[in-house]
Amino acid sequence: MFMPLPVPERYNRHSMLEYRTIVPPYAPSFFDELTALGTEVFGQFDPTELVWRLTHMPDPSVQVASDQGLVGFKLGYASGRDRYHSWLGGVRQESRRRGIAVQLMNLQHEWLRSRGYTSVGTATLPENVAMIALNMRFGFRVIGSQCQADRPRVLLSKNLAERD
Ligand SMILES: CC(C)(COP(=O)(O)OP(=O)(O)OC[C@H]1O[C@@H](n2cnc3c(N)ncnc32)[C@H](O)[C@@H]1OP(=O)(O)O)[C@@H](O)C(=O)NCCC(=O)NCCS
Repeated sequence: MFMPLPVPERYNRHSMLEYRTIVPPYAPSFFDELTALGTEVFGQFDPTELVWRLTHMPDPSVQVASDQGLVGFKLGYASGRDRYHSWLGGVRQESRRRGIAVQLMNLQHEWLRSRGYTSVGTATLPENVAMIALNMRFGFRVIGSQCQADRPRVLLSKNLAERD
Protein backbone atom coordinates (compact mmCIF):
# COMPACT_ATOMS: atom_id res chain seq x y z
CA MET A 1 0.00 0.00 0.00
CA PHE A 2 1.26 3.49 -0.93
CA MET A 3 2.35 5.54 2.09
CA PRO A 4 2.66 9.25 1.26
CA LEU A 5 5.95 10.79 2.36
CA PRO A 6 5.76 13.28 5.23
CA VAL A 7 5.60 16.78 3.75
CA PRO A 8 6.23 20.28 5.09
CA GLU A 9 3.32 22.22 6.61
CA ARG A 10 3.02 24.47 3.54
CA TYR A 11 2.02 21.45 1.43
CA ASN A 12 -1.06 20.72 3.52
CA ARG A 13 -3.43 22.67 1.32
CA HIS A 14 -3.22 19.67 -0.98
CA SER A 15 -3.38 16.92 1.61
CA MET A 16 -6.80 15.81 0.28
CA LEU A 17 -5.45 14.86 -3.11
CA GLU A 18 -5.78 11.25 -4.16
CA TYR A 19 -2.69 9.50 -5.58
CA ARG A 20 -3.10 6.42 -7.78
CA THR A 21 -1.16 4.28 -10.24
CA ILE A 22 -3.19 3.60 -13.38
CA VAL A 23 -2.28 0.68 -15.64
CA PRO A 24 -3.73 -0.51 -18.99
CA PRO A 25 -6.22 -0.81 -20.48
CA TYR A 26 -6.58 2.96 -20.67
CA ALA A 27 -9.99 4.41 -21.49
CA PRO A 28 -10.17 7.03 -24.27
CA SER A 29 -11.53 9.45 -21.65
CA PHE A 30 -8.33 8.99 -19.62
CA PHE A 31 -6.22 9.88 -22.67
CA ASP A 32 -8.41 12.98 -23.07
CA GLU A 33 -7.84 13.99 -19.44
CA LEU A 34 -4.08 13.48 -19.74
CA THR A 35 -4.02 15.46 -22.99
CA ALA A 36 -5.89 18.35 -21.37
CA LEU A 37 -3.44 18.42 -18.44
CA GLY A 38 -0.42 17.99 -20.75
CA THR A 39 -1.61 20.94 -22.87
CA GLU A 40 -2.02 23.08 -19.75
CA VAL A 41 1.42 22.12 -18.39
CA PHE A 42 3.47 22.19 -21.60
CA GLY A 43 1.53 24.67 -23.73
CA GLN A 44 1.81 22.54 -26.83
CA PHE A 45 1.09 18.85 -26.49
CA ASP A 46 0.70 16.17 -29.15
CA PRO A 47 -1.53 13.36 -27.83
CA THR A 48 -0.47 11.00 -30.65
CA GLU A 49 2.88 10.25 -29.04
CA LEU A 50 1.30 9.87 -25.59
CA VAL A 51 -1.32 7.40 -26.83
CA TRP A 52 1.25 5.48 -28.87
CA ARG A 53 3.68 5.07 -25.98
CA LEU A 54 0.99 4.09 -23.47
CA THR A 55 -0.41 1.57 -25.96
CA HIS A 56 2.76 0.07 -27.44
CA MET A 57 5.60 0.41 -24.93
CA PRO A 58 5.99 -2.42 -22.37
CA ASP A 59 4.48 -2.27 -18.89
CA PRO A 60 3.31 1.36 -18.97
CA SER A 61 2.04 3.11 -15.86
CA VAL A 62 0.64 6.53 -15.07
CA GLN A 63 0.80 7.93 -11.55
CA VAL A 64 -1.82 10.62 -11.05
CA ALA A 65 -2.75 13.15 -8.40
CA SER A 66 -6.39 14.22 -8.53
CA ASP A 67 -9.14 16.00 -6.70
CA GLN A 68 -12.10 16.89 -8.95
CA GLY A 69 -9.85 16.27 -11.95
CA LEU A 70 -6.18 15.56 -12.69
CA VAL A 71 -3.73 17.93 -11.00
CA GLY A 72 -0.48 16.12 -11.76
CA PHE A 73 0.84 13.04 -13.53
CA LYS A 74 3.97 11.01 -14.12
CA LEU A 75 4.23 8.29 -16.73
CA GLY A 76 6.70 5.73 -17.94
CA TYR A 77 7.32 2.25 -19.32
CA ALA A 78 9.89 -0.54 -19.21
CA SER A 79 13.14 -0.04 -21.13
CA GLY A 80 14.55 -3.42 -20.12
CA ARG A 81 13.66 -6.47 -18.00
CA ASP A 82 14.49 -4.67 -14.74
CA ARG A 83 14.86 -1.07 -15.95
CA TYR A 84 12.15 1.58 -16.31
CA HIS A 85 12.03 4.84 -18.23
CA SER A 86 10.18 7.74 -16.63
CA TRP A 87 9.12 9.58 -19.75
CA LEU A 88 6.94 12.54 -18.84
CA GLY A 89 5.39 14.32 -15.90
CA GLY A 90 3.89 17.59 -14.85
CA VAL A 91 1.86 19.43 -12.26
CA ARG A 92 -0.69 22.21 -12.90
CA GLN A 93 0.92 25.62 -12.57
CA GLU A 94 -1.22 26.77 -9.62
CA SER A 95 -0.52 23.58 -7.67
CA ARG A 96 3.28 23.62 -7.86
CA ARG A 97 5.77 23.71 -4.96
CA ARG A 98 3.38 21.83 -2.70
CA GLY A 99 5.04 18.45 -2.89
CA ILE A 100 2.81 16.87 -5.55
CA ALA A 101 5.71 15.82 -7.82
CA VAL A 102 7.46 14.38 -4.75
CA GLN A 103 4.45 12.20 -3.96
CA LEU A 104 4.07 11.11 -7.59
CA MET A 105 7.72 10.10 -7.75
CA ASN A 106 7.47 8.23 -4.46
CA LEU A 107 4.39 6.40 -5.71
CA GLN A 108 6.11 5.52 -9.01
CA HIS A 109 9.22 4.19 -7.27
CA GLU A 110 7.21 2.05 -4.85
CA TRP A 111 5.23 0.64 -7.77
CA LEU A 112 8.46 -0.10 -9.67
CA ARG A 113 10.04 -1.85 -6.67
CA SER A 114 6.91 -3.97 -6.21
CA ARG A 115 7.29 -5.15 -9.83
CA GLY A 116 10.98 -6.00 -9.55
CA TYR A 117 12.54 -3.05 -11.36
CA THR A 118 16.01 -2.21 -10.05
CA SER A 119 16.65 1.11 -11.79
CA VAL A 120 14.80 4.00 -13.35
CA GLY A 121 16.07 6.47 -15.91
CA THR A 122 14.88 9.76 -17.28
CA ALA A 123 15.98 12.53 -19.63
CA THR A 124 15.43 16.24 -19.23
CA LEU A 125 16.38 19.52 -20.85
CA PRO A 126 19.43 21.08 -19.14
CA GLU A 127 17.49 24.30 -18.49
CA ASN A 128 14.70 22.48 -16.64
CA VAL A 129 16.02 23.35 -13.18
CA ALA A 130 12.84 22.22 -11.38
CA MET A 131 12.96 18.72 -12.87
CA ILE A 132 16.71 18.32 -12.37
CA ALA A 133 16.45 19.51 -8.74
CA LEU A 134 13.55 17.15 -8.08
CA ASN A 135 15.40 14.20 -9.59
CA MET A 136 18.64 14.93 -7.74
CA ARG A 137 16.70 15.17 -4.50
CA PHE A 138 15.40 11.65 -5.18
CA GLY A 139 18.87 10.21 -5.68
CA PHE A 140 19.09 10.38 -9.46
CA ARG A 141 22.60 10.90 -10.80
CA VAL A 142 23.65 12.38 -14.14
CA ILE A 143 24.93 9.56 -16.36
CA GLY A 144 25.40 11.42 -19.63
CA SER A 145 23.78 13.56 -22.28
CA GLN A 146 22.12 12.96 -25.60
CA CYS A 147 20.88 15.03 -28.51
CA GLN A 148 17.21 14.47 -29.32
CA ALA A 149 15.50 16.47 -32.06
CA ASP A 150 18.52 18.85 -32.09
CA ARG A 151 18.16 19.61 -28.38
CA PRO A 152 20.57 18.31 -25.74
CA ARG A 153 19.09 16.27 -22.89
CA VAL A 154 20.62 15.41 -19.54
CA LEU A 155 20.33 11.67 -18.85
CA LEU A 156 19.71 10.68 -15.23
CA SER A 157 19.47 7.33 -13.51
CA LYS A 158 18.56 6.05 -10.07
CA ASN A 159 19.25 2.74 -8.36
CA LEU A 160 15.91 1.70 -6.82
CA ALA A 161 17.66 -0.28 -4.08
CA GLU A 162 18.44 3.11 -2.54
CA ARG A 163 15.48 4.40 -0.58
CA ASP A 164 14.02 7.82 -1.42
C1 LIG B 1 8.88 19.81 -12.41
C2 LIG B 1 7.50 19.81 -11.77
C3 LIG B 1 6.79 18.52 -12.15
C4 LIG B 1 7.64 19.89 -10.23
O1 LIG B 1 6.33 19.74 -9.67
P1 LIG B 1 5.98 20.28 -8.21
O2 LIG B 1 4.78 19.55 -7.74
O3 LIG B 1 5.93 21.75 -8.21
O4 LIG B 1 7.26 19.82 -7.38
P2 LIG B 1 7.36 19.66 -5.79
O5 LIG B 1 6.52 20.70 -5.11
O6 LIG B 1 7.08 18.24 -5.44
O7 LIG B 1 8.88 20.03 -5.56
C5 LIG B 1 9.79 19.10 -5.04
C6 LIG B 1 11.18 19.66 -5.10
O8 LIG B 1 11.60 19.82 -6.46
C7 LIG B 1 12.42 20.99 -6.56
N1 LIG B 1 11.72 22.02 -7.36
C8 LIG B 1 10.43 22.00 -7.78
N2 LIG B 1 10.17 23.11 -8.52
C9 LIG B 1 11.32 23.81 -8.57
C10 LIG B 1 11.69 25.04 -9.19
N3 LIG B 1 10.81 25.76 -9.92
N4 LIG B 1 12.96 25.45 -9.05
C11 LIG B 1 13.86 24.76 -8.33
N5 LIG B 1 13.58 23.58 -7.69
C12 LIG B 1 12.32 23.12 -7.82
C13 LIG B 1 12.63 21.49 -5.14
O9 LIG B 1 13.73 20.77 -4.60
C14 LIG B 1 11.33 21.03 -4.49
O10 LIG B 1 11.41 20.91 -3.09
P3 LIG B 1 11.04 22.19 -2.18
O11 LIG B 1 9.74 22.74 -2.66
O12 LIG B 1 10.99 21.61 -0.79
O13 LIG B 1 12.18 23.17 -2.38
C15 LIG B 1 6.69 21.07 -12.22
O14 LIG B 1 7.48 22.21 -12.03
C16 LIG B 1 6.22 21.01 -13.65
O15 LIG B 1 5.15 20.47 -13.94
N6 LIG B 1 7.01 21.58 -14.58
C17 LIG B 1 6.61 21.65 -15.98
C18 LIG B 1 6.60 20.31 -16.62
C19 LIG B 1 7.99 19.74 -16.80
O16 LIG B 1 8.94 20.46 -17.02
N7 LIG B 1 8.07 18.43 -16.72
C20 LIG B 1 9.32 17.75 -16.90
C21 LIG B 1 9.53 17.31 -18.29
S1 LIG B 1 9.11 15.60 -18.37
